[in-house]
Amino acid sequence: MEEQGTGKGSASGEGQRTVECADALEWLSARETLAGSSVITSLPDVSEFPALSLAEWKQWFIRAAARVMAKVPTEGVAIFYQTDVKKTGAWVDKGYLISRAAEEAGCETLWHKVVCRTAPGTVTFGRPAYSHLLCFSRGVRVELSRATPDVLPHAGEVTWTRGMGTQACLTACRFILEHTATRTVVDPFCGHGTVLAVANALGLDAVGVELSRKRAKKARALRVVFDSGTLRLSSSTDPESADEP
Ligand SMILES: C[S@@+](CC[C@H](N)C(=O)[O-])C[C@H]1O[C@@H](n2cnc3c(N)ncnc32)[C@H](O)[C@@H]1O
Repeated sequence: MEEQGTGKGSASGEGQRTVECADALEWLSARETLAGSSVITSLPDVSEFPALSLAEWKQWFIRAAARVMAKVPTEGVAIFYQTDVKKTGAWVDKGYLISRAAEEAGCETLWHKVVCRTAPGTVTFGRPAYSHLLCFSRGVRVELSRATPDVLPHAGEVTWTRGMGTQACLTACRFILEHTATRTVVDPFCGHGTVLAVANALGLDAVGVELSRKRAKKARALRVVFDSGTLRLSSSTDPESADEP
């Protein structure tokens, strides 16, 4: 079943938003290249696939990432925000898995940033202290003189444990604005819609796809505002229902 919703119009300077409740891979398969668009997304973790073994999830993850990149036009970029996990004593490196998918899809790595989730020097268990922010493209290339920081000291505000931080979203959206001609951001696994809200706040149009009806609803409603130069989430979030499907 698909639901659709449109966000604020551009009278306020914000971009338009559409969120569909659908399976991302089916949604992508039903489309040609995402003309005029770049992608910013976070693929679901193995914990969201209780029926799959780790090896099966890895195959799904690489296939899904390659499918996403295959739909990004030559003039666009695909940006992934992923946090590694440790399973049965081994480190699952999602940066590596995404990079394998990029090679399959014929994309080059434009940058690989590290986003601190906790202060450097902190010991963490289960999930590492940083997330990967990786950018790929077939056609876009970056001039060395226009480099941006490789380490983001703060991910920014999140709406839930699996959410993408607002500062990471801002870095990704600004890169799209400043280095590509694309003016629509697609997030095929949009969760609560942080990417969509930040894209809209910068004047970019945004399209989200999300399997969970509840999260798709949140993704239609989420807003961010610039408050004294800092990006803040402006709609209330409900931690009680944060992990509900
Ligand atoms: C890592 S979370 C994304 C979080 C998001 N960036 C945010 O800030 O809220 C992955 C999301 O993918 C969704 N998902 C899982 N499988 C999906 C599928 N086949 N199609 C679309 N969405 C899916 C999950 O419900 C989850 O919300």
